[in-house]
Amino acid sequence: MRSPLALPACLLSLVLATLAQNEGSPIDYAPLVNQSCPDTNTAPLIRQFTPETQSLHPDESSFINARLKDVIPQAWADWIGDGSKIGYNQSVVDFFKNNSAKIGISISGGGYRAAQYGAGVLSGLDARNDSAKQAGTGGLLQVSSYIAGLSGGSWVTGSLFFNDFPTIEDLVFGNDHLSGWILDLDLAAPDGLNLLNDANQYFFGSILWSVIAKANKWIDTSLTDPWARMISYHFLNETTRSNFFTNETAHGAGQLWSNIPLIPSYAQHQTPFPLIMADSRPAGSNLTTQLAPESVVYEITPLEFGSWDPNLSAMMNLSYAGTHLSNGTADNDTACVRAFDQAGFIMGSSASLFNQILDFANNKISSFGKDGQGLLYSLQRLLRSTRTRADDVANWPNPFHNIKNDTFQDSASKWLEFIDGSSNAENVPLGPMFVKARGLDMVVAVDGSADDLQSWPNGSSIVFTAARLTNVLNASHLPFPPIPNTTDQFISTGVRRRPTLFGCNPAQNPPEYPLVLYLPNSPPVKGDDPVTNTGTFQIDYTQKHSRLFIDQTHTNTIAGFLEKAAAADPQWGVCLQCAAVDRARYKSSPPIIRSETCAECFTRYCFDPAHPPDGSLVVGRKVNFVDPDPEGLGKVVGFLQKNVVGLSLGVVGVIVAVAGVIGWL
Ligand SMILES: *[C@@H]1O[C@H](CO)[C@@H](O)[C@H](O)[C@H]1NC(C)=O
Ligand SMILES: *[C@@H]1O[C@H](CO)[C@@H](O)[C@H](O)[C@H]1NC(C)=O
Ligand SMILES: *[C@@H]1O[C@H](CO)[C@@H](O)[C@H](O)[C@H]1NC(C)=O
Ligand SMILES: *[C@@H]1O[C@H](CO)[C@@H](O)[C@H](O)[C@H]1NC(C)=O
Ligand SMILES: *[C@@H]1O[C@H](CO)[C@@H](O)[C@H](O)[C@H]1NC(C)=O
Ligand SMILES: *[C@@H]1O[C@H](CO)[C@@H](O)[C@H](O)[C@H]1NC(C)=O
Ligand SMILES: *[C@@H]1O[C@H](CO)[C@@H](O)[C@H](O)[C@H]1NC(C)=O
Ligand SMILES: *[C@@H]1O[C@H](CO)[C@@H](O)[C@H](O)[C@H]1NC(C)=O
Ligand SMILES: *[C@@H]1O[C@H](CO)[C@@H](O)[C@H](O)[C@H]1NC(C)=O
Ligand SMILES: *[C@@H]1O[C@H](CO)[C@@H](O)[C@H](O)[C@H]1NC(C)=O
Ligand SMILES: *[C@@H]1O[C@H](CO)[C@@H](O)[C@H](O)[C@H]1NC(C)=O
Ligand SMILES: *[C@@H]1O[C@H](CO)[C@@H](O)[C@H](O)[C@H]1NC(C)=O
Repeated sequence: MRSPLALPACLLSLVLATLAQNEGSPIDYAPLVNQSCPDTNTAPLIRQFTPETQSLHPDESSFINARLKDVIPQAWADWIGDGSKIGYNQSVVDFFKNNSAKIGISISGGGYRAAQYGAGVLSGLDARNDSAKQAGTGGLLQVSSYIAGLSGGSWVTGSLFFNDFPTIEDLVFGNDHLSGWILDLDLAAPDGLNLLNDANQYFFGSILWSVIAKANKWIDTSLTDPWARMISYHFLNETTRSNFFTNETAHGAGQLWSNIPLIPSYAQHQTPFPLIMADSRPAGSNLTTQLAPESVVYEITPLEFGSWDPNLSAMMNLSYAGTHLSNGTADNDTACVRAFDQAGFIMGSSASLFNQILDFANNKISSFGKDGQGLLYSLQRLLRSTRTRADDVANWPNPFHNIKNDTFQDSASKWLEFIDGSSNAENVPLGPMFVKARGLDMVVAVDGSADDLQSWPNGSSIVFTAARLTNVLNASHLPFPPIPNTTDQFISTGVRRRPTLFGCNPAQNPPEYPLVLYLPNSPPVKGDDPVTNTGTFQIDYTQKHSRLFIDQTHTNTIAGFLEKAAAADPQWGVCLQCAAVDRARYKSSPPIIRSETCAECFTRYCFDPAHPPDGSLVVGRKVNFVDPDPEGLGKVVGFLQKNVVGLSLGVVGVIVAVAGVIGWL
């Protein structure tokens, strides 16, 4: 154990209290310790189950049911109307509305690329967007029950909630009261040109101030903490261009994931239910390579966190995350921790890929370029004075200590080591959608992975998920429908370049698996130069590039796919509506017959394992990235690497400044 920055805690808290503003301050990042615990006889902090007895948190069930009853029927009506376009009559449509298919959307990781790809896709599925509505695709978001995010996908998900679920246009680019993502200010060095200038110094100082405040509660920090704070500046709602380099707001510190239920759009069931995914490495293993599929995968909801994996099968009340429990009990009545579930820390935990990056010898992340090295360098420097434990993972006090000690890998550990949700190769957070108790009918896989040399996906995440569901989660989760079995087949069938439906013709009723819609990041259908296949570690985008990125993704999402044509499919909106209602047919006995219109759609969009499509059907696409704003980017690419020496001096400067304040007092 290394001790936190050696400042007298009482002095520091005096400084912090003095400087704190009414609007909140960056030190609100510090969890509250020595809090009274609930009476665990009446309000257990942990719930345990088995794959056979698994059940949803009661508040998750009531949220989903309320949304299905009060909100989604009208959303269906707004989307599919009287059903005549998709070939069903009014009485069937009424049945669909009453027996809604339960739909989830999963957004992959991949840094800013994945966050923007996820945003562009959501925009194309959002009824509030005029061109999406016009194309017939806008509406799927409104009828969805769940949305899951992993790493970069967790950033767009978290951002949607903590900005009260605005349109993507407003979320990313801002409006009268939202400031947008401000992606042109570099994630790690926002005032790029000179790291020693006042603005960058203030920024590093604020971040360090937050992290020190947490460490001073004797809660172990890591690289994930400054990382979490940097992410908060862009994706939470308290940072504008004009307050970026000030302490005028908390920059998202103090906003808690467990407070999502207080956000108006959520409270009114106007949003899907959010799920964030993170992996864990066996505590103390120091593992830096790809995780084995067995290692426990966690999910974080606004209500609880834990795992459905058979070997854990337990959940912890999220409001008390950060508390050490043993066999479900805290050390004493006032040993509880609150406010550990900082929104930035949740998004940072899901995106905590440092253990792999730090392993330079085995590093398998091909896109980890010079900017990534600079980012890492700056984070390490920030952490130097506060690190107290494994620095390359997100450190979570283990509430599952002494639970399931015969199967749970970390039952003996006091800590959990969370790492990036993609560390086991599942980059699209599909696992949570297959949990049996959730009973999903359709899952949309939004895949912004960078698998090949041009940073396009090749299905590797889907192949891995299918295998993990079969080999590890057989008892607790539904299986995956048939897919191209290898990445080579994803490529040769063209499935990685176009929207595809998996599992269109289940053998059983109820169907043995959900319908899966695969939406890979892929080149523009009309043959334009692509701007969306950027590197995972590109941590700033000019406004022009970001604009084109979202527009290009949006345009592709509403375009569908035509065989042997570089053009949009005018029927795609109809076909998407067909897919969205399809599983509701099975809720009638015998199942309602698929309409002719929909059957025709399915011949074109469904993957039939007996007759897989041919990749040569996808024509006229350009695959090489073309920088849409070369002058804008030239200023920043490789910048951090060039400035490593300056950066190190800069952080030393910050530490001196903090010490200076103490001295002055
Ligand atoms: C509506 O369609 C269903 C299924 O095709 C059919 O059974 C039913 O008779 C139709 N109802 C009306 C009012 O046409
Ligand atoms: C749908 O549900 C409403 C309210 O429960 C009911 O009045 C109506 O008959 C149902 N319609 C169908 C087609 O099941
Ligand atoms: C930010 O969102 C929170 C809810 O998460 C809300 O309470 C707060 O008013 C918002 N702040 C701003 C500046 O919009
Ligand atoms: C929590 O309480 C213990 C004594 O029970 C005390 O030693 C410790 O300093 C307290 N921690 C904080 C951060 O107040
Ligand atoms: C915020 O306050 C901290 C601690 O005093 C300081 O180091 C930092 O420079 C300040 N940041 C800004 C943006 O003013
Ligand atoms: C992991 O690293 C820590 C600190 O360096 C060391 O004490 C521990 O033995 C290592 N664990 C393993 C399994 O190598
Ligand atoms: C854990 O707690 C349960 C009751 O909550 C008790 O039945 C069980 O014996 C405890 N196990 C251990 C190892 O203390
Ligand atoms: C209660 O437990 C906490 C955490 O282990 C510890 O810091 C604190 O000193 C304990 N308080 C008392 C009164 O024993
Ligand atoms: C697990 O806990 C039980 C109950 O305390 C104990 O009897 C058993 O020996 C423990 N098993 C292991 C592998 O530690
Ligand atoms: C579950 O735990 C058992 C006992 O430790 C272990 O043998 C098995 O590999 C684990 N299974 C998974 C899927 O991790
Ligand atoms: C709809 O999305 C497009 C493409 O990103 C965008 O240009 C347009 O402004 C959006 N419209 C609305 C109303 O948000
Ligand atoms: C994938 O593998 C399964 C099981 O081996 C096989 O039945 C199926 O035909 C394969 N699918 C394709 C598209 O090759």
